[in-house]
Order: sequence, then C-alpha cells, then structure tokens
Amino acid sequence: MKKIAVLVSGGGTNLQAIFDACDSGIIKNGRVSVVVSSKEGAYALERAKNHGVEGIVIPKKDYPDRVEYTKKLISELQTRDIDLVVLAGFMIILDECFTRTFENRVMNVHPALIPSFCGEGFYGLHVHEAALAKGVKLTGATVHFVNEVCDGGPIIAQKSVPILEGDTPEILQRRVMEEAEWKLLPEAIELFCADRLTVADNIVHIK
Ligand code: GAR
Repeated sequence: MKKIAVLVSGGGTNLQAIFDACDSGIIKNGRVSVVVSSKEGAYALERAKNHGVEGIVIPKKDYPDRVEYTKKLISELQTRDIDLVVLAGFMIILDECFTRTFENRVMNVHPALIPSFCGEGFYGLHVHEAALAKGVKLTGATVHFVNEVCDGGPIIAQKSVPILEGDTPEILQRRVMEEAEWKLLPEAIELFCADRLTVADNIVHIK
C-alpha cells in the first residue's frame, strides 16, 4: 500500500474525490496518510479530520523564503515515509529541491488542457477566466508529474470539457471539476500506486 500526502490550500474538493475513491475501491493500492495545508482554517482540513486522517498546517508566512518553506515540507513528508505527493489545489510554488527530492513522485491537477492556460499566474478561477476570454470551445483538466518548470512536467492524463454559451468562470470551474478533475486525479493516483506509470524522456507511459 502506497502512502500518499495531499497538499491543499483551500476547499479540498479534489481531496474529497480522493477519499471517495479510496472508499469506493477506485484507489486500491494507496491510502492518504497526511493532508498538509498551506492555510490555517482551510476546509480541506475538516475533510481530513472527518476521514480520520492527520492534517497539518504549514503556513508560508512562518518561513523567511521559498527554500526554507520547501525544506520544512520535505522533512515533514520524509518523516512520514511518503511515496506519492499530490498537489490538489495547492497554491504555493515550491523550490525545485522539492521535485529533486521526490522525482516523478509529485502529481498536480491543473484545471485546463496543458499547454493551454498554464504556468505562473494561472491558478484557480484565473484559468477559467482566461479560457473564456480567449473564446476556446473546449477546455478540461490535466494531471501531470511536477518538475522544475511550472505546469511543465510529464502529462499523465487529460480530459476535455466543453465550454457552453453563458458560462461564467464559476460555472465553468464547477463543470471542469465534476466532469474531469474529480475522476482524472483518483485514476492517475491509482495508476501510480499500482506501479503502472513510467517516465522516459519527459513522456509518461502507462503499463
Ligand atoms: C482545482 O480546480 C485545481 O485544479 C486548481 O485549484 C482548484 C482547487 O480546488 N489548481 C490549480 O489551479 C493549480 N494550478 P479544491 O481545493 O476544491 O480541490
């Protein structure tokens, strides 16, 4: 059984989807050992508590810089012997020593079809605002391994979602979550936990 850490900053609906997938058997080969929040009072911490999973808060403001923050995070995860780190709405960009330490063991869910609407500044609702402003007719979600390039790591899974007349960023965000993120992320986690993912030359292969 792989040990999973989920890093969050907000509501944690993706975290909830992971818990539900563990309960329903979609995730068979892994369990969430710890939830780490960058924000005190994040609702995701309640979800962890309701599920009997340890929740810890590591606020960015308590650390002088990105490197010190990242080192603290690494040490908390290493202490718990974590196999897979999942960024599920985690809104802090970490120092690259993080992905060096957990190479091809950090997964992120992004609410667009990478390489569209991604990179620095594209997070949360901003991603959907940008998709609507461009007038694209299809968007979606991407689950990828995290490397030193923001949203640039090897892609594990993608799913498209239509943009409909009258969409607001909030309506679109909800559709992308329901139709793509909440399914894709648990499926990708199970593939990792079942040792079915390999990475060669920045490309993910599924066995
Ligand atoms: C999700 O839509 C996730 O894809 C996005 O933040 C939201 C978090 O929601 N992540 C990013 O934009 C990362 N670049 P949640 O806390 O309810 O899971």
